[in-house]
Amino acid sequence: MSKEAFIQFYQAIFKTEELKEKIRAMTSTQELIKLGSQYGYGFTREDIAEASNSYVPDSGQEVGANNSQAVASKNSEADLSPNGSQFYHYEFEFSEIPGFEEIDRDLDSLKIKPSTVDLNLYEKSFREDDFNFASLSPASPEFQQHYSDIMEPCFNPKIPLPEPEYTQRHFHLINLDLHVEHPLYEDYLSDKVRLVKRLENFFDAEIRFSGSLWYPPKAYRVWHTNENQPGWRMYLIDFDTAELGGEGESFFRYMNPETKELVTLPERPKLVRFFKIEQEPSKLFWHCIVNATKFNRWSFGFEVPDTWMSRIFSSRKRTAEI
Ligand SMILES: [Fe+2]
Repeated sequence: MSKEAFIQFYQAIFKTEELKEKIRAMTSTQELIKLGSQYGYGFTREDIAEASNSYVPDSGQEVGANNSQAVASKNSEADLSPNGSQFYHYEFEFSEIPGFEEIDRDLDSLKIKPSTVDLNLYEKSFREDDFNFASLSPASPEFQQHYSDIMEPCFNPKIPLPEPEYTQRHFHLINLDLHVEHPLYEDYLSDKVRLVKRLENFFDAEIRFSGSLWYPPKAYRVWHTNENQPGWRMYLIDFDTAELGGEGESFFRYMNPETKELVTLPERPKLVRFFKIEQEPSKLFWHCIVNATKFNRWSFGFEVPDTWMSRIFSSRKRTAEI
């Protein structure tokens, strides 16, 4: 176990196409450590931290899983509507995008429930007040106090962050990429790699996973901005049912950064959603997610290029012409 082993592994990544592909499909340090050990490089989370502080790679990229430079740049072609006002989200059904049929099929094998997740502990960690926090606007005067209470273990280094992740107040859901010690993981990883390749073919650009999330019934992700990972994001969303019916709802809610209006997007199975994460304080994209249905919800996030919209529309146009 050593910092040097991690640096050697990191250098090996840039020389090996197979490794690069796997890294683009990974989002957690746990996955990186497991991959390193499979290739004969033993290192720990501490070794990665130490190496990140002391090593400046030739490529200019940061060290670590999900080490992308933001794919998007400013002035995206997808930013402006014809009348100049800004759209903050775009949604499609899988069936509306020609070429997404295979992507839809690929998603089925990613909708896993790792056996290492303790669902009793998950249920015990539920808090009604945090579940209801989604109804409070980030622009409201009461917001900051509640937000600071929830986030304290994340912001205060003296308070230990509860483990596993689904016991943390701001994150009442399962991050699939943190669970690498269960029998389905290897197949899950190769399925993620296959999906990234397919998306790269579709968008004709490099694509990276940004998150692989399982929202069991009553899961929630409280208000956040993701400001440390700016750029366009695509989420593929599905449930373990073809119809949600009327019992409870699942939604994505965001605050329009200009008007401060809350926008609620009710969800249904097989949804593709795009939105853009900004870093500038006045443009922060506050958003939260609640699954109040009795079904399991999965969402798989990707960093996509600014050109995503022209690829979607050219694919639709091509089909219309046939
Ligand atoms: Fe988010």
